[in-house]
Amino acid sequence: MRDANPRTVYLKDYTVPDYLIQHVDLNFTLDEENTRVVSRLTMCRNPASRSSDTSLTLAGENLQLIRVVLNEDNELGDKDYLQTPDSLIIHDVPQQRSFVLTIENGIDPKANTALEGLYLSNGMLCTQCEAEGFRKITYFLDRPDVMADFTTTITADRDRFPVLLSNGNKVGHGNLPDNRHWVTWKDPFKKPCYLFALVAGQLECVEDYFTTVSGRDITLQIFVEKHDLDKCGHAMQSLKNAMAWDEQVYGREYDLDLYMIVAVSHFNMGAMENKGLNVFNTKFVLARPDTATDADYEHIEGVIGHEYFHNWTGNRITCRDWFQLSLKEGFTVFRDQEFTGDRTSKAVKRIEDVNMLRTRQFAEDAGPLAHPIRPDAYIEINNFYTLTVYEKGAEIVRMLHTLLGADGFRKGSDLYFERHDGQAVTCDDFVSAMEAANGADLSQFRRWYAQAGTPVINVAQHYDAAQKTLSLTLSQYCPPTPGQPAKEPLLIPITTGLINKDGSPALCRLQDGEAAEQVVLQLTQPEQTFVLADLNEEPIVSVLRGFSAPVKLAMNRPLDELAFLLSHDPDTFNRWDAGQQLAVQVISGLIVDYQDGSELAVNPLLIDAYKKVLAHPWEDLSYFSLLMTLPSELYLTEQMRVVDVEAIHYAREAVAKALAEQLREPLEALYLKHHRDESGQFDAGAIGRRRIKNTCLAYLARLDADWVQHWALQQFNSAKNMTDQLAALTVIVNHPHPASQQCLDSFYEQWRHEALVIDKWFTTQASSPLPGTFEKVLDLLDHPAFDIKNPNRVRSLIGAFSQSNPLHFHAASGQGYQFLADRILELNSLNPQVASRMVGALTSWRRYDEKRQGLMKAQLERIISTPAISKDVYEVAVKSLA
Ligand code: ARG
Ligand code: ZN
Repeated sequence: MRDANPRTVYLKDYTVPDYLIQHVDLNFTLDEENTRVVSRLTMCRNPASRSSDTSLTLAGENLQLIRVVLNEDNELGDKDYLQTPDSLIIHDVPQQRSFVLTIENGIDPKANTALEGLYLSNGMLCTQCEAEGFRKITYFLDRPDVMADFTTTITADRDRFPVLLSNGNKVGHGNLPDNRHWVTWKDPFKKPCYLFALVAGQLECVEDYFTTVSGRDITLQIFVEKHDLDKCGHAMQSLKNAMAWDEQVYGREYDLDLYMIVAVSHFNMGAMENKGLNVFNTKFVLARPDTATDADYEHIEGVIGHEYFHNWTGNRITCRDWFQLSLKEGFTVFRDQEFTGDRTSKAVKRIEDVNMLRTRQFAEDAGPLAHPIRPDAYIEINNFYTLTVYEKGAEIVRMLHTLLGADGFRKGSDLYFERHDGQAVTCDDFVSAMEAANGADLSQFRRWYAQAGTPVINVAQHYDAAQKTLSLTLSQYCPPTPGQPAKEPLLIPITTGLINKDGSPALCRLQDGEAAEQVVLQLTQPEQTFVLADLNEEPIVSVLRGFSAPVKLAMNRPLDELAFLLSHDPDTFNRWDAGQQLAVQVISGLIVDYQDGSELAVNPLLIDAYKKVLAHPWEDLSYFSLLMTLPSELYLTEQMRVVDVEAIHYAREAVAKALAEQLREPLEALYLKHHRDESGQFDAGAIGRRRIKNTCLAYLARLDADWVQHWALQQFNSAKNMTDQLAALTVIVNHPHPASQQCLDSFYEQWRHEALVIDKWFTTQASSPLPGTFEKVLDLLDHPAFDIKNPNRVRSLIGAFSQSNPLHFHAASGQGYQFLADRILELNSLNPQVASRMVGALTSWRRYDEKRQGLMKAQLERIISTPAISKDVYEVAVKSLA
């Protein structure tokens, strides 16, 4: 599989394509094992190309070439072209005028376990082309800056493939002898081949419509397997919400008359924005109150929105090359985050996004695979669909929004759409549009696209009572990352507010500025002082409100100041974060005590702060639940120099148990207040009631008391919605409970026909902190429902164990590491993309003690020395060892 030296692709080597493709005419004759593809490409030399080479190189992998014809009648022979494992080189093609190249080839979808190109998923045929999967369908100029219009004709057996879909509009169909039929699709919009899609199978469809601002009726269709028809309502409503939102917030209307979504059970990622024909992982479409949790409902709406928003940010305007991936992904994630915030709770959504960023993305940015949101080199582009490109990319767009204001940002996005519609462009083009529309200078801001690593911000304050001023001295420092030893200072927007000692807000006024509730300090220098005036007393400072930049704030605040902010900060993010920092400090102290073998005594100040939170009359119960939630083990991991998984787990548990014991009464009361079942209700109120109730149950479970075990069992048995049932099961599985196995068995029996629920069953068991979890995971590998060829199943068992169960994955014996490497090697030959994702859990080896470092490294070395290693896995493993 692997070349001795896999090729690295560099951004600096970008050149325009030597040829262009104006029109693509595809003809598929479908068969599970032997699909025929006839591709007729109308092409010409690119006038902008500066190469003098008259040959044409098309990309192609795993294709059985049948014939090549130039200009209708000239069938090319062996000597006219050269076939390599990943290309077809035609020695001589016309240079002066356009020409037609017809290529016929065969492919075997059934053998395609990598799920890239055309493959089989539960009997249906579907495609995944981004980033470079189209070359597994036919020979092509497989790069995003080659945009063509596509006509696609699909011929297949009528019984096996009654539904035949591709991009655009259906322009013809008919029957053929031998029980066969055909359909022709035409996409009027030029697109790169990564947005091509084809789906065929026994699918059922839910249909609805949406009337756009300009009064056009768009047909909306969601295709699923028959058994899932009753789980499409939420996805359909989400799509309509997304369409309306993009009209209102960005002035973007849908362009085709038809929007199709297909849900497939075998999918490497979340979903794919193919023009007019999105292909989705079933996980992000199917939901019924009894099968999907409140979190699932939210994620479905978010991903449906994300793919829909790509129609403008990704499809109408696409990327010039794959180094620009964040152009479409960062912007589209920002758009879907704002959409979800508007649909649910802005405060809660922001906290959830920052939580993800500060645990997973900060870890990536601090590790051996750190890369800028616009990387400058890759071996396998699929490895760069990262939290950095997506989530940090969204933070960069959010900072532009903060710096330019909502109106300025909208002017910038309008100009971007106006300038670049129909083009394949760069991140720089996006920033230039923002700049031009606002008369702003974003030259320093552009460094965010090129520099990796998370900046650390230090804050020092000085109050001058005579002058009534507060000086805030901010400094920035970004640690080195691979290939970037020294960093330039960035432009960092730091939203700041002030609070008086009595808890009332103090106005902020920068010299010669106007007084406001908060100010955006623009840090541009390594160190800079900002002076705030007219302050009669020294206020408490609230820095980085709303998490206005993806940075680490280094402020050693006394516990009582954090407790003060937890009670008084009007900024919902900083209020929550004050509670998190308070808990981090207390838990960090206990981690040291645990390591010293001392008794773990929880600081009463923390208990008192939580008691106050419990006593407050919160309106947003989801936000209340977040305030009541301790920082995760993963977040605590990020705070430690040498990670000690056991100390983290037991110190955090000690705090949770102390809270349960000392706040037992209010927690119990709160649980009982909201415990009545509200199946089927999905308004913010019902979601919040479930969330706070289940937060209380999880605390109380730490008491290991019969009555709590009984509550959990009762909730498990009577729940009518998956949120409550799963929350109860999790409590039962995470703590010793006499009915634990019985509940797992009955859950399995109840849901054995719902694959997505069975995924949860695997995950719950793989995530338990109880002893015996590793052995359980080994047993589950042999369970008849486990299927290593299904990525959702792999993620639910192997992914959950290695990425969400630090206590057991990092067992001192190294058994977790060996287990993971075994699975990676097994997956490597089946599905390199999924295999490569699983390596992630080993890449942070430098963060652990020497013994674990050695054990993790040994597995990484074993992986790279495996002869048939894929370049996907190789790249991640080799870079993490460097
Ligand atoms: N563009 C898709 C999305 O974020 C993701 C597709 C990634 N696929 C891949 N094989 N890397 O919406
Ligand atoms: Zn995307």
